[in-house]
Amino acid sequence: QGNAIQRSNVQVQVVINSRSQRADADIDKVLLSTEQLNEILDYMGRQIGHEYQDKELLVLGVLKGGFMFTTLEVDFFKASSYGTGTSSSGSVKLDESFDLSSIKGKHVLVAEDIIDTGLTMSSLVSLLRRSGAMSVRVAVLLDKRARRKVTFDPDFVGMYMGEEFVVGYGIDFAERYRWLPYIGVPKPE
Ligand code: IMP
Ligand code: MG
Repeated sequence: QGNAIQRSNVQVQVVINSRSQRADADIDKVLLSTEQLNEILDYMGRQIGHEYQDKELLVLGVLKGGFMFTTLEVDFFKASSYGTGTSSSGSVKLDESFDLSSIKGKHVLVAEDIIDTGLTMSSLVSLLRRSGAMSVRVAVLLDKRARRKVTFDPDFVGMYMGEEFVVGYGIDFAERYRWLPYIGVPKPE
C-alpha cells in the first residue's frame, strides 16, 4: 500500500512495507498506528513539498532506520526509483562510499527516524554544511526532545515523544521489529 502526493517537482511517497513480522506479541503499547503514521507523513509531505516547491531537493536518508521515512524523491531520482517500486531507491544513504562532493550547491533535506541526543544530526548537518550544501534541513519522524545532549532543532517534526525506546516502521531493535507497520514500545524483556 502507499499514498502519493504530487507537489510540483517533489513527489512524496509513503510506503508501508507488507513484510511486517508477526512480532505484535512483543509490543507493549502502540505509539503510532499505521493510520496515524500515514496522516503524519502525509502532512509532513505536504509541508516539505510546499517549502521546496521551486527548488531542486536532494533527500538524504540516514542509514537503516531512516529508510522507511526516506521516501521523498525529486525528479532527478524518479527514473531509478520507479523501476523497483521500493521506498529506498530514490534516496542517498550516507555511508563510507558516499561522495560528499555531490551535495555541493544543493538544497539538502536529511530524513531521519528519531532524534535522541541530537549528536548524530548535529554532526551530520555540520558535515553537510562544510561540504558546500546550499541549504541543509532535517525532517524527523519522532523527536525525543527531553533527551538532548546538544542543542538541535529539526526543521520538520512528525511528533514529539517521551523518552521511551520504540521500534517499528523502519526503527529496529538489534535488527528486529523493523518491518512492523506501526511504531510501538517493546516489552522490557
Ligand atoms: P542521537 O540523536 O545521536 O542520540 O541518535 C539518534 C539515533 O539513535 C537514531 O537515528 C536511531 O537510530 C537511534 N535511536 C534513538 N532512539 C531510538 C529508539 O527508541 N529506538 C531505536 N533506535 C533509536
Ligand atoms: Mg538512525
